[in-house]
Amino acid sequence: MNQGTPDYRDSGLEFPADFVFGSATASYQIEGAAHEDGRGPSIWDTFSRTPGKVLHGHTGDSACDHYHRLDADLDLMQRLGLESYRFSIAWPRIQAEGTGPANAKGVAFYSRLVDGLLARGITPIATLYHWDLPQALEDAGGWTNRDTSYRFADYAHLMGEALGDRMAMWTTLNEPWCSAYLGYGSGVHAPGITSGRAALTAVHHLNLAHGLGLSALRDAVRKPDAQYSATLNLHMIRPGRDADGEPLPESAEAVRRIDALANRAFTGPMLQGEYPVDLLEDTAHVTDWQFVRPGDLELIHQPIDVLGVNYYSTVTVTMWDGVSARSNADGHGDAAGSPWPGSEDVEFIQQPGPYTAMGWNIAPDGLEQLLVDLHEQFPTLPLMITENGAAFDDEVRDGVVQDDARIDYLRRHFTAAHRAMERGVDLRGYQVWSLMDNFEWAYGYTKRFGIVHVDYDSLERTIKQSGHWYSELIASRRIPE
Ligand code: FCB
Repeated sequence: MNQGTPDYRDSGLEFPADFVFGSATASYQIEGAAHEDGRGPSIWDTFSRTPGKVLHGHTGDSACDHYHRLDADLDLMQRLGLESYRFSIAWPRIQAEGTGPANAKGVAFYSRLVDGLLARGITPIATLYHWDLPQALEDAGGWTNRDTSYRFADYAHLMGEALGDRMAMWTTLNEPWCSAYLGYGSGVHAPGITSGRAALTAVHHLNLAHGLGLSALRDAVRKPDAQYSATLNLHMIRPGRDADGEPLPESAEAVRRIDALANRAFTGPMLQGEYPVDLLEDTAHVTDWQFVRPGDLELIHQPIDVLGVNYYSTVTVTMWDGVSARSNADGHGDAAGSPWPGSEDVEFIQQPGPYTAMGWNIAPDGLEQLLVDLHEQFPTLPLMITENGAAFDDEVRDGVVQDDARIDYLRRHFTAAHRAMERGVDLRGYQVWSLMDNFEWAYGYTKRFGIVHVDYDSLERTIKQSGHWYSELIASRRIPE
């Protein structure tokens, strides 16, 4: 037992009986079978085929072949002792072109997945949209087209009808921040558009899709205890500091601006029914926000049961002096466009390590603070960590993946989560990203986040030492020694 350590390397901390330990994945990242059983192309199929967009030209065509290995993967989850599994549904498997009736074969796959989870005592948590928009909808403007929000609601309704009798928790969107700002602003994610105006338009239409989708789900689902949520990658933003460690005076402005764009652009409409006034002012030279129509905010502001929080690291910001080379260490790489519309004069400062293989700084205290801040802001809203984990350069040696760095990362972040709970945060569970190594978007297969190793030639799965460590945590409900 080792508790209250300054570096968050505690052991022995016990989690409550109803805390749900699970793991997460997303459809395009693991399924493969991109052209089978009536699946239509998604924006990620198109983007990954566009030269220069994804490292080494990797695509999700085969990925981890999860589509064909469903039963074995379910057994793997059971062996790990997972209590929940957070997966996403590929919209283009259900509606190849984003409209019309549900494709029976697509529905059958997810139905089999849910039944397989329930048969093994694993709670299913489904995300409706983890970035694989049907290409046909993108051809009509994608998230810059208001109609896409209504198409999303139709799709949500179909899924509510198909799986609503069994699904424990529904999540509308995963990280709309990434969909909007990386997809339409910086262009490092599909569909690769680089326009600040398009990004902000997408922000609103994603928010609208969340609200319309929730209503459609509630209308279709016949399971009174089903829970509803959205998952946000809220940014933990720190001010730049001077040599004495004092916050730079101009950093407060930078923090406010990035908080508006990254966090309050979503929590405002979803949880409070309004866009922050400062966000509208900061971006007035980019867009007049006329795409927000009367009544939209009421549609978006739907009650949710749990807010999903994805957390990996922090950012540190200050205002750029306009003279020195602008540092853009926001964790999202170099890009043709900016993911920060209207705030291109904010500087993202390189942060102290250690770092993961993504170059992201490891900061468990950021997770504790983010959870506590959220709880203070929304005291009655339960939270769930829907993603947290780390990429490292793992290797299989004699059948063993000795990923001590990942165990250390997880230990420190579980400690942070526990400390937040001790400070009163109503935290319901923790879904480790990721169940298995997978297609890491623009990085292709070069970044390994799994607690299970995947050999991309043989597709063999090997539980990493972190996976065994996690099994021990789940079984004992205590952070292992
Ligand atoms: C999150 C995504 C997830 C995965 C992790 C590393 O932003 O939701 O799909 O790529 O990052």
